[in-house]
Amino acid sequence: MHLTVTFMPLYVYLSLYSCVLLPLWNMYVFLTAVAGLLLLALPLVQTRFPYLGQDFAYILRSIKLGIRLTKYKKVQPFYSILDCFLDAVRSHPSKVFVHFEGRAHTYEEADKHSNRVARALQAEVRLQEGDPVALFLPNEPTFIWVWLGLAKLGCPAALLNFNIRSKSLLHCFSCCGAKRLCVFAELQDAVEEVLPTLKEQGISVYLLSETCSTQGISTLSDKIRQASDEPLSRDLRANVNIKSTALYIYTSGTTGLPKAAIVSHERVWAASFIQAVCGVTENDIFYINLPLYHSAGFLIGMAGAIERGITIILRRKFSASQFWDDCRKYNVTVMQYIGETMRYLCNTPKKDNEKDHKVRVAIGNGVRTDIWSEFLSRFGDIKVRELYAATEGNIGFINYTSKIGAVGRVNFVHRFFFPYTLIKFDIEKEEPVRNADGLCVEAARGETGLLVGRVTQRSPFIGYAGNKQQTEKKRLRDVLKKGDLYFNTGDLLRFDSENFVYFQDRVGDTFRWKGENVATSEVADILTMAHSILEANVYGVKVEGHEGRIGMAAVTLKEGEDFDCLDAYKQVVNYLPAYARPRFIRIQPCLEMTGTFKMKKVKLVEEGFNPANITDPLYFLDPEKKTYVPLTEEIYKAIASREIKL
Ligand SMILES: *[C@@H]1O[C@H](CO)[C@@H](O)[C@H](O)[C@H]1NC(C)=O
Ligand SMILES: *[C@@H]1O[C@H](CO)[C@@H](O)[C@H](O)[C@H]1NC(C)=O
Ligand SMILES: *[C@@H]1O[C@H](CO)[C@@H](O)[C@H](O)[C@H]1NC(C)=O
Repeated sequence: MHLTVTFMPLYVYLSLYSCVLLPLWNMYVFLTAVAGLLLLALPLVQTRFPYLGQDFAYILRSIKLGIRLTKYKKVQPFYSILDCFLDAVRSHPSKVFVHFEGRAHTYEEADKHSNRVARALQAEVRLQEGDPVALFLPNEPTFIWVWLGLAKLGCPAALLNFNIRSKSLLHCFSCCGAKRLCVFAELQDAVEEVLPTLKEQGISVYLLSETCSTQGISTLSDKIRQASDEPLSRDLRANVNIKSTALYIYTSGTTGLPKAAIVSHERVWAASFIQAVCGVTENDIFYINLPLYHSAGFLIGMAGAIERGITIILRRKFSASQFWDDCRKYNVTVMQYIGETMRYLCNTPKKDNEKDHKVRVAIGNGVRTDIWSEFLSRFGDIKVRELYAATEGNIGFINYTSKIGAVGRVNFVHRFFFPYTLIKFDIEKEEPVRNADGLCVEAARGETGLLVGRVTQRSPFIGYAGNKQQTEKKRLRDVLKKGDLYFNTGDLLRFDSENFVYFQDRVGDTFRWKGENVATSEVADILTMAHSILEANVYGVKVEGHEGRIGMAAVTLKEGEDFDCLDAYKQVVNYLPAYARPRFIRIQPCLEMTGTFKMKKVKLVEEGFNPANITDPLYFLDPEKKTYVPLTEEIYKAIASREIKL
C-alpha cells in the first residue's frame, strides 16, 4: 500500500488561504478514503494508477501544513520561528539544541547566549527594530546565537557566504542596505582588505573577539560576555509580522554578482515545515554539514530543527571521512545532502561497519541515480527525500514517490494553486522560443523546457534586495497570454507521460561546482581585470566522475599581448573563492556572439577541455605551481585518471 507514504509539499505550496482550504480539506478526506477503499478492494486500480495513493497522501499533508501556516498568518501577536524556539526552551530547557566539536549546548543555554548577544547589540550597536545586520560567520553555534539575538530585536540578518572576498563581499553587503557587519574573529583579514571602502560607505564593523587593534573595528565578544542574560521584552519586535523580512540569503541564481533574496517570515515557516513533511519527529537527531548561509542549511536544517524541537549536530565543514563516525557517535537519524555529499561518501574506502548507524532519512537535492543506488547498497536503507526549489523562486517539487531519478510529480492540485508550465527554450540563443504572436510555446510532454511559475498573490516573487534590474531579469512577461507574468527559474525540466518531473539542466549563466553556484559573469568580470585579457566567456565543463561542472573560460587577449599566466593566476586567486576559479583557460582569436550579442557557450561547453580535440591554446590552473600552465596531454590524462585532484 502506498497510502502511508509521508510527503512533502514545497514551501510555496503552503500559502493556501483557509477559505479555499477548509472545503478542500473535507473533500480530500473523503476522496482519500474513497481512493483508499478502491486501492484495498481493487488491485487492478493499483496497477492502473500506481501513484494515486501517494498523490493523495501528498495533497493531504500539504493541506494540513497550509492550514497551520494560515493560522500563523492570522494569530495576533505574530508567532514567529523565534516564538517557536522560546516555546521549545520552556518545554525542554535541558534538551541539547546544538552539538558542536564535542560541546553540547542546551535549548536554555542557547536562549541565554542569545539574550546576551541581543543586549550587547542593543547597547553597543544601538540597533533598532528592522535594522538589517550582515553576518560574516562560519558554521559555528555563534552563528545561531547571533541570529537568535537579532530576531529578539526584530532585526533581519543578511547571511554572507564566508568564502567571498573583496568586490563580491562589498557588493553583497551593500545590496541589503545593512549598515552593520558582524564578523567572526578569523575572518578579520578578509574584512580589513575592504575596510577603507566600508568606512566610506558608513558601515560599522563588529568583530566577535575580545580584542582588536585595528582602527575602525569594534570588538563584540567582551560586551557579550558582560551583558545580562535576562529575557528581552517582546515589545522590541512588536512590528514584526508574517510579511516582514526575516533574512537575506544570497544566491547566484542568474548573472552578475550575488543577489540578496528577500526571505519573509512566511517563507521561513514554509521552509521549516519541510522536515515535518519528510517525517522528522521530535526524537530525531539532525546532522547539518551544509553551510548555514544557504537556505538548505539554515532554513530546512536549523529552522526546521527548531520547528521540530530537536537536536542538531553542527559541523564546521563537511567531512566524508568523519561522516559516519559522527552519525554513530551522536545517534544521528536524519542527514542533509547535496549531490556532492553523496558522491564523496561513496568515494570513501569501504569499511565493515558502514551499515551500522541510525540514519533513516536524507533530505536534499541533486543526487544522481547511479550514486543513489550505490549509496543505498553501501550504507543501507535510507529514505531519500529529493526536493527541487530555489530560495527566491515561487515554485518547487518534492520527490514523494519511489521513482528513481524524478524530483517530483505534476499534481493537479499543486498546479491549480501554483500555476507553472514548461516552455520551449532555444539553447543556442539562450532565450524562450516565441511564436508569431510574441507568446511563448509550451513544451510537449517528454520534451525538455524552461520551468516558469506564474506570479500570483499566493505564489509571489519578492525579488532581490536593492537590485531592480536582476529582479526584472527573472520576470518573464507575455508567456501564455499578453500581459501575464511568470518567474523564470532558469532551470530546464522535463515531465514524462506518467507526470514525473525530471531536472535536466540549468541555463547558461550559472553552473554548479562543489555544491556552490558560480555566476559566469562575475568570474568574467574578475578575469578581464587581468592585464593581458580583453574579453572572457566563462562556462562550466563536465569532468568524468564529478558532480556539476568545473569552471572554464574562453578568452581573447589584448592587441600584441601574450597570455600572462602568473598575472591571471593572481587575479583569480585573489578575487574568487576556490570553487569559482576557472581551472581551464582557452585562448581564442575572437569570441562568438549570438544575434542578440550574448556570448555563445553551448559549443564551447560541448568541446570541453581535451587538448586532442581543440586547436586553440589551453591552460590549466596548477595550484602547486601557483600559476596557469599549458594544458598538455599528460595533464589531461592525469585529470581523467584522477591523479590530479580537482
Ligand atoms: C546514543 O544512543 C545510545 C544507545 O541508545 C546511548 O547509550 C548514547 O548515550 C547515545 N549517545 C548520545 C551522544 O546521545
Ligand atoms: C526519489 O525517492 C526514491 C525513494 O526514496 C528514490 O529511490 C529515488 O532515487 C529518489 N529520486 C531522486 C532523484 O532522488
Ligand atoms: C576528442 O578526442 C578523443 C581522442 O582523440 C576522441 O576519442 C573523442 O571522441 C573526441 N571528442 C570530441 C568531442 O570530438
